[in-house]
Amino acid sequence: MQMTDLIVKKRDGGALTDEEINFMIQGYTRGEIPDYQMSAMCMAILLRGMDDRETLAMTMAMMHSGETLDLSPIRGVKADKHSTGGVGDKTSLVLCPMVAAAGVKIAKMSGRGLGHTGGTIDKLESFPGFSTAISEETFFDNVNRIGIAIMGQTADLVPADKKIYALRDVTGTVPSIPLIVSSIMSKKLASGADVIVLDVKCGDGAFMKTEDDARELARGLTRIGRLAGRKCAAVITDMDQPLGFAVGNAVEVKEALAVLRGEQEGDLLELCLTLGGCMLAEGGLAAGIEDARERLLQTIRDGSALRKLAEMVEAQGGDSAAVYDPSLLPDAAFKLEVPSLKGGYVGRIHAEDVGLVSMHLGGGRATKESSIDLSVGVVLKKKVGDYVEAGESLGTVHASSEEKGREAVELLRNCFEFSDEPVERPSFIKDIIR
Ligand code: URA
Repeated sequence: MQMTDLIVKKRDGGALTDEEINFMIQGYTRGEIPDYQMSAMCMAILLRGMDDRETLAMTMAMMHSGETLDLSPIRGVKADKHSTGGVGDKTSLVLCPMVAAAGVKIAKMSGRGLGHTGGTIDKLESFPGFSTAISEETFFDNVNRIGIAIMGQTADLVPADKKIYALRDVTGTVPSIPLIVSSIMSKKLASGADVIVLDVKCGDGAFMKTEDDARELARGLTRIGRLAGRKCAAVITDMDQPLGFAVGNAVEVKEALAVLRGEQEGDLLELCLTLGGCMLAEGGLAAGIEDARERLLQTIRDGSALRKLAEMVEAQGGDSAAVYDPSLLPDAAFKLEVPSLKGGYVGRIHAEDVGLVSMHLGGGRATKESSIDLSVGVVLKKKVGDYVEAGESLGTVHASSEEKGREAVELLRNCFEFSDEPVERPSFIKDIIR
């Protein structure tokens, strides 16, 4: 078999056989197929597409390019979630303890991630002593004992994706539905959960800018998940403004704790109830999403979700006192308000730009090697549709120095657009695909 023939076949609109796809993924992972040929193939796939059979074959070939996690030592239904990435996305910190308290097992691998803020692991490391560098044995044992554990990603999970994604990033071939589906689903399938729930964001701060594109991606992801034998659902959510109010690391943990204490309603809680509702319903632990939502709300009312987080923090070497007393979490030296220069209704909050303010403050990572400051970030006070008086604060900047803080104040102000007319609050959950 020759890679050149496969490129020509896809370029001319043909469908690749399972054998051809396996040859291509194995050959590329082993370094036998050069980058230039794989780049040409990615472009041919972007232009010509792939049907479900091809996308499934690509997903499975990528999944088997490295280690896979066998979660069978864990008793009960195991669920995992994936988000296509958003600004202020602290969903896992709320969702996982809530769902675990309701009886679904969470055995989750998470990453640090590059970008505006750290990933879930960085955020969790705000709890003094907390570590995700735990052995597989401890991971399984903790999930069996307390129902939840979060472990750092092992190096050899889906090596094919690491290579292909790096190539797509520099060859204009990221926005291809079959390539995105196989990239995301190979990693989720390799992580071993029975139930996979996907949060597909759309809007300014998201990867998919329109609702139609997000729906097409969500359908593709759930179809491939089901064809691979897993229970799968997707929720399409708005990312035209940051999720919740906080963007950073410790500030996001503090917000998550407020939701778990039952002190904050709104988009973040709504998202967690919907994703968690899908997990319980797909896992057969609830009759439907409504029933599941009620059970999840109960874990907040009776404090069991907050206790579950404390148990996880403790079991992974952290100080759970900070779960009940957020003043023990990292705190920035300088806090500056951001007074609005004009009055009006908030028409837009550019999510991506708010993310860049967090990055400017040191809350994100530009390269894998950069270190991040867990204490810095932004806490918004206003959301789209709110009325603001001139001089009223739009949010608080948490900074490590007064100079950085002042710069961030100006940057954050520019993230807001105003309207003299009332602005309708955008609907947050756009669709649920089950
Ligand atoms: N996230 C991924 O993991 N892969 C993609 O291709 C796009 C987003």
